[in-house]
Amino acid sequence: MEKKFKRTLVTTALPYANGPVHIGHLAGVYVPADIYVRYLRLCGQEVIMIGGSDEHGVPITIKAMREGVTPQDIVDRYHSIIKESMKGLGISFDIYSRTTSEIHNRTASEFFRRLYDTDQFVEKSSMQLYDPEAGQFLADRYVTGECPHCHNAGAYGDQCEACGTSLAATDLINPKSAITGCIPELRETRHWFLPLDRWEPMLRKWILDGHQEWKTNVYGQCKSWLDMGLQPRAVSRDLSWGVPVPVEGAEGKVLYVWFDAPIGYISNTKELLPDSWERWWKDPETRVINFIGKDNIVFHCIVFPAMLAAYGDGFQLPDNVPANEFLNLEGDKISTSRNWAVWLHEYLQDFPGKQDVLRYVLTANAPETKDNDFTWRDFQARNNNELVAILGNFVNRVVVLMHKYFGGEVPAAGALQDIDTAVLNEITALKDSVSENIETFHFREALREAMNIARAGNRYLQETEPWKLAKTDMARVATVLNVAAQITGALAVVTEPFLPFASERMARMLGMTDPMDWAMLSDVAAIIPAGRKFGEAELLFEKIEDAAIEAQTARLARIKEENRIKSFTPAPQAADVDFDTFCRADLRVGTVVECERVPKADKLLRFLIDDGMGRRTIVSGIAKYYAPEDLVGKQVCFIANLPVRKLRGIESQGMILSAENADGSLVVIGPTAPVVPGAQVK
Ligand code: 2FM
Ligand code: ZN
Repeated sequence: MEKKFKRTLVTTALPYANGPVHIGHLAGVYVPADIYVRYLRLCGQEVIMIGGSDEHGVPITIKAMREGVTPQDIVDRYHSIIKESMKGLGISFDIYSRTTSEIHNRTASEFFRRLYDTDQFVEKSSMQLYDPEAGQFLADRYVTGECPHCHNAGAYGDQCEACGTSLAATDLINPKSAITGCIPELRETRHWFLPLDRWEPMLRKWILDGHQEWKTNVYGQCKSWLDMGLQPRAVSRDLSWGVPVPVEGAEGKVLYVWFDAPIGYISNTKELLPDSWERWWKDPETRVINFIGKDNIVFHCIVFPAMLAAYGDGFQLPDNVPANEFLNLEGDKISTSRNWAVWLHEYLQDFPGKQDVLRYVLTANAPETKDNDFTWRDFQARNNNELVAILGNFVNRVVVLMHKYFGGEVPAAGALQDIDTAVLNEITALKDSVSENIETFHFREALREAMNIARAGNRYLQETEPWKLAKTDMARVATVLNVAAQITGALAVVTEPFLPFASERMARMLGMTDPMDWAMLSDVAAIIPAGRKFGEAELLFEKIEDAAIEAQTARLARIKEENRIKSFTPAPQAADVDFDTFCRADLRVGTVVECERVPKADKLLRFLIDDGMGRRTIVSGIAKYYAPEDLVGKQVCFIANLPVRKLRGIESQGMILSAENADGSLVVIGPTAPVVPGAQVK
């Protein structure tokens, strides 16, 4: 990579410690950032990767309140799960710290104080929602209500998740306290605001004129914020959990979580490099890259840069902010509160040793330009048809052939034929394309090109057929296997950023004992020297069977069902009916004598019922929910005195009663103990 900068500081959005991390976080931020950082390290560049948990904010205190524990308990629990699981996936942070650290508290506090002392804030009183029962103001997610834009009834005080609009709590229609459920009142309170409008000209010039190379989703969002005109933004809140506002008379007020969180990048760098952290933030030859998800764009491109500019002292603004779109799961939005996610720590338990499979699938299907969908079937197919069949298969074939024909020792190549130089040239072009794509944040395409190296390798073996040549021309076999060995060597290097576990195993198999670097690819004909001894062939990837996938889809089906039940709201009670009217409905119990599907009507079952007075036929629309034979012999309740109705040519003499479940399915109603057919229901 051409060096325009001396070093690169990569930050990754700090995940809220109110839950574990899931595939959405990984695909959006941590896997691409890790690919980028690993690649730069392979290129010998000076780079650090900063991460940590975002441990303030209302969702954490709400969770603590619901569980009857302290916010500190919550963040301790999730911080360690997140940290461990990220390590398990090979996300190679130089530091993964947290915003409840002492150094962060000091750094954030000092940051605020400097802006305060240099008149960078405006102090304003305003009317805010207050819960008189809880005795506190209702900041951000402490209040829910109807979104004034899309009328979603469950919008939060800071954002409507249905339409994505940022809101102020006072914008909500019919607000309700998330603490006590009561209707809040308005009370006056004082806060500090960062006047973003003061920074608008600087931000326009910096982004709109200076960073047209940013991803279109990022640039577009910034442009629309700037075009709407920036407003002062409150940077403090009336809460008890957070970094206290370091100003006299500010008791009971803390820094807004979005003020303190990005400062976490600085605190964590300080914690990692107490003596040299400033080099990473203030030297114009350092390049700062923020990896984030699309919901964080405004904070990283507008608010934090305005904070840094207000602070001055040479803090560098980010050079790029590669934000991804969202990943959905099996067609639905991933949600921590609805448990609709594939959680990293669970994945690592369910699929031990398969870290690279997840990294691969999340990169191959990364939501780089639009929202994408993760499905377990796609996960299985990509593992079986790509990792196993293309990459694993190629490397395995080469190592096995090397042992078979040359005792595992790479032979020297003879004169190269056209097909040999052609494939080596192709590999050179592909690895250059991998570089170019990684450097421009196109990780999906970079991975595709890396896999094309394995595809080229398979094709080369198919075309040269060394197993046939071995009967007549061992000198030619030596050349072919030497070239094939170079391709495996190229794969070991090129796949390292994407599939670090497999890359390490490849390097071991190929006897590459020195640390790898990208410069090894400068001559792809000389990656593996002749005479190199290969290790034993081992399979890099194994097939994932249907049973493993079915266990995951069954889990999701269970969660969907639980969510349906949780979110079920009974229909409002109907208007009163007088008792005599009700009594005119003749409700009876009968025993099912026969039950069968009505031909050409997929919803209907025809029942023959023993009603104590004889037999009657009833047609009922429950065919989707029952196998007819299961109902024979059962007792059901029915309305006996409805006028006869003709359904598909069958005269139905009544209606079977059933209850509609949360998922819309119907369950037939019957007595809880046997009763005599024809018994009245009273
Ligand atoms: O959206 C989120 O999950 C935030 N916790 C991201 C914070 S990024 C940074 F500013 F710390
Ligand atoms: Zn809305």
